[in-house]
Amino acid sequence: PARPRVFSGIQPTADSFHLGNYLGAVRNWVTMQETHDTVYCVVDLHAITAGHEPATLRQRIRLAAAQLLAVGLDPDRCTLFVQSQVPEHAQLAWVLNCITGFGEASRMTQFKDKSARQGADRSSVGLFTYPILQAADILLYQADAVPVGEDQRQHLELTRDLAQRFNSRFGPTFTVPAPHIIRDTAKITDLQDPTAKMSKSSSSPAGIIELLDEPARSAKKIRSAVTDTGREIIFDPEQKPGISNLLTIYAALTGRTIDDLVQAYDGKGYGDLKKDLGQVVAEFVEPIRQRTQQYLDDPAQLDKLLAVGAEKARAVAAVTLREAYDRIGF
Ligand code: ADP
Ligand code: NA
Repeated sequence: PARPRVFSGIQPTADSFHLGNYLGAVRNWVTMQETHDTVYCVVDLHAITAGHEPATLRQRIRLAAAQLLAVGLDPDRCTLFVQSQVPEHAQLAWVLNCITGFGEASRMTQFKDKSARQGADRSSVGLFTYPILQAADILLYQADAVPVGEDQRQHLELTRDLAQRFNSRFGPTFTVPAPHIIRDTAKITDLQDPTAKMSKSSSSPAGIIELLDEPARSAKKIRSAVTDTGREIIFDPEQKPGISNLLTIYAALTGRTIDDLVQAYDGKGYGDLKKDLGQVVAEFVEPIRQRTQQYLDDPAQLDKLLAVGAEKARAVAAVTLREAYDRIGF
């Protein structure tokens, strides 16, 4: 039988991905290549919803693709492409816009958060309909599952609702996808504000570990992480969010269990843990940075690889769009 298909996307809205993106999502994209039919997308249409600069965006699209290849996506085993190169995404999004309730879209908390930060009048309609475009991304590929962090759960629910609604109104067309949220690392938090998620849009660069950081800089960020009162190294995300986040990262990058780490650091201080983890992180990011640079050194080759990916994606997307168009009377 065919392998189950997964779809996932990431925005090219920063030069570098951060450790939350990697541990909450992208790391799993790599392993799923072994077991699933995997479709991965650099979602540049999403990246213009909150204002952007064209030359920077063009560079960040390449940077995103290069980093995904550098962490282990293999274009022979997955479909890796750039969203704007497959016009069916925008086309299906329009159809889904027309079956989404205004009130329903208004309930999306990520829009509320982002528009509150930007000011309601300065937020674009594109930012408002962002989750509907996301639904189109997923449904075009008839994905069975979507590997994302906890922050995307509500958007996934909307995608499922829209698929079910379309199917019952116009006839069976879309696979209803399941969320695939990696429990342990679904939420990596900000090093300077450990109750908030680590995010590109974080106010302090010291709060995020960027994959393209120089290793010494990563180590320094870990050493300067905000930790909690008390001195005991225990895992308690409620009472000790700072140290718990560091333990989560440590466990995820080394494969050791949290319990094992807690035991190993029994009687030691925060400083010891941070020093060791700083080194673990530095050693982890350095080869990624180097491989990313190698891909960027040959942009023509990178663009060619992405064009091939877009062809592969389009072969699937066009079939789904045609079917949806038939259903609605086009
Ligand atoms: P950001 O929130 O930094 O803008 P994106 O929205 O581009 O990042 O998210 C890309 C992927 O990374 C999504 O699957 C998202 O769930 C995941 N992700 C983002 N931040 C975190 C985090 N702090 N912890 C775990 N996963 C995260
Ligand atoms: Na996000």
